[in-house]
Amino acid sequence: RMKSVSIDPQSSVPKYSQLREILLDLIDAELAYDALIPSERELVDRYGLSRMTVRQAINHLVAEGRLYRIAGKGTFVARPKVEMPLRLTSFTEDMLARGQRPGSRDLERRVGAAGGQVAKGLGLSPGDPVHMMVRLRTADEVPMAVERSYIPVLVAPGLDDVTLTDRSLYAILEERFGIELDHGEQTIEAGIVDPDDAVLLELRPGSAVLLVERRAFAEGRPVELTVSAYRGDRYQLHVGLDAPRLPATQSPGPTRSGGDGHG
Ligand code: GLP
Repeated sequence: RMKSVSIDPQSSVPKYSQLREILLDLIDAELAYDALIPSERELVDRYGLSRMTVRQAINHLVAEGRLYRIAGKGTFVARPKVEMPLRLTSFTEDMLARGQRPGSRDLERRVGAAGGQVAKGLGLSPGDPVHMMVRLRTADEVPMAVERSYIPVLVAPGLDDVTLTDRSLYAILEERFGIELDHGEQTIEAGIVDPDDAVLLELRPGSAVLLVERRAFAEGRPVELTVSAYRGDRYQLHVGLDAPRLPATQSPGPTRSGGDGHG
């Protein structure tokens, strides 16, 4: 069904919000990413809105990561957000799967003593040696995430001599150390970008990030603990949902839930 493509001045929906919807429909229907959207002037004329209202709608879409601005050039359609994978894949694999060129820059590499939290996460004793690395991850040269990883030295001795610039950590673990990660766990929460990370990620101070903490294991041994800050304007998380198990309606009496081996 065609949506109305004009602004309804009677509506209780604010005008900038109506324009936002119109622009979203336009993006979906006819604009590819990196396409230039109509100028503020054109939108003002086409929809009979004030310049301020038009700017407000565009600002929202920029903040949501749907549009981006280039000074002096105009406003463009952003790429769709990256779906945060829910499998034990590497950043390199994820970007290649999207047809983008993965990049990695070593910001910090050292061997140090595991602090309490890191030791706990990796099944070590505090003070045990760990490789610590901070990496900036890029996709087609655009900064996407800052990742802080810890790997027990015992698991990958000599990893500190290997450059990770534009390389995949997981590929190196596999090729050089024969480590095949077989399962992992991940916690994702909302966060505000750390001031130093903001500069690296080209975000304004106070921007949203997705904080992802991953532990990855091989044969039951923790291999990696990584805390990543992913750009909130570039990532989203989508999950399928199962309905909760309905109580068995046919059989009155207690439901067959606990203690029957289902987990
Ligand atoms: C993702 C995970 C990290 C992991 C990385 C490995 O970004 N969040 O925990 O260390 O992938 O990626 P790569 O093999 O490309 O270095």
